[in-house]
Amino acid sequence: MDARVTNPSALTLKENGLEVALPNGKTGYFNYYWLRDNCASSFDSQTRERVFDIFHLDAAPKPAEAAIEDGALAITWAGDGHKSRYDLAWLGQYSEGKVRHDPADLPRRAWYSDHYPDIARFDHATLMADKKAVAAWLEAMIVEGVAIVTAMPDSHEGLTDLVRLMGHVRPTFFGEYFDVKTHIKPTNLAYTAKALEMHTDTPAEDVAPGVQFLHVRANSVEGGQNLFLDGVAVANDLREQFPDDFKLLSETEIPYYCEHDTYDMRSRQRVIELDQHGEVSGVTISQHMADIFDLDQAFLDKYYPAFCRFGRMLQSDKYLMRFRLEATECIVFDNHRIVHGRSAYSATSGDRYLRGCYADRGEMRSTYRALVSEGRFK
Ligand SMILES: [Fe+2]
Repeated sequence: MDARVTNPSALTLKENGLEVALPNGKTGYFNYYWLRDNCASSFDSQTRERVFDIFHLDAAPKPAEAAIEDGALAITWAGDGHKSRYDLAWLGQYSEGKVRHDPADLPRRAWYSDHYPDIARFDHATLMADKKAVAAWLEAMIVEGVAIVTAMPDSHEGLTDLVRLMGHVRPTFFGEYFDVKTHIKPTNLAYTAKALEMHTDTPAEDVAPGVQFLHVRANSVEGGQNLFLDGVAVANDLREQFPDDFKLLSETEIPYYCEHDTYDMRSRQRVIELDQHGEVSGVTISQHMADIFDLDQAFLDKYYPAFCRFGRMLQSDKYLMRFRLEATECIVFDNHRIVHGRSAYSATSGDRYLRGCYADRGEMRSTYRALVSEGRFK
């Protein structure tokens, strides 16, 4: 290599990259493609998007000149003579290949049956007016997976306005909104007055909807107690007490379905979902939408006992939070984590009307990051 290097004690050019002394006292290695690709000029300040096209370089990028100047690495590139400048402290963030810090990657706090008085609560008007309250709401959603919004307007718009604080209404194959009341020709158990077993919603979709909103517009019936539990708490206990069962449920995909006259939705999901750290991030469970298990029958000798053990744990008083949602309340919960159901109610004893919809978890985390952090461009 015949590039000109000043400060050779702090900078060594290699075949595919360079070594540079960093402010933390360590030496960092940086690949030339990476350096050329991430020159500050590669990003448009208005759109904040990458505008440099590394796919169309004539040759592999190599420095013609390199130097350390005023706490920065300065490179003049061979070929086009483009000049780049990298703050050494900025380079230091990328020297060890660590995943970028994510303010939305917060540790989950598991909760149990006694959580009801401690559920994070926010009133609708405050959320509409105060971005800090929105950030606190989204943080509760990320950490605990559930929150109640109180004093909701008795209108369709009240729910839509609430969803728009975190993202957009995310349609499912049955539309954008759903109305839970007793239907004359029900296509779903939810639309009857019968008990609804503990479940997560629409597991038959490729990716089940992330955040569920249930806005109680009327609730004067007898019965119909709401049941919620934290799937993370149950799955963590299973992991500790029955690690073999946990392994089966977190590694095996089982079939889910939702079929009627005009649709035939199918997917395969793991009952226990893990995140990038290997921690439990959620569960997918629905007996009314679990398809006939088309797995090896001898494998089912092991799988079914594990599945049933977990299913029984989902009925346990240790985890089940029982309460009654009142009109004007909207419960918001992570549909990949919080398992919900209701007891039977008497359809003739009064009115019961819940209007619901979903939003996307990725969009919720995006809104949270934008509210609490600087990002790379602010
Ligand atoms: Fe549901």
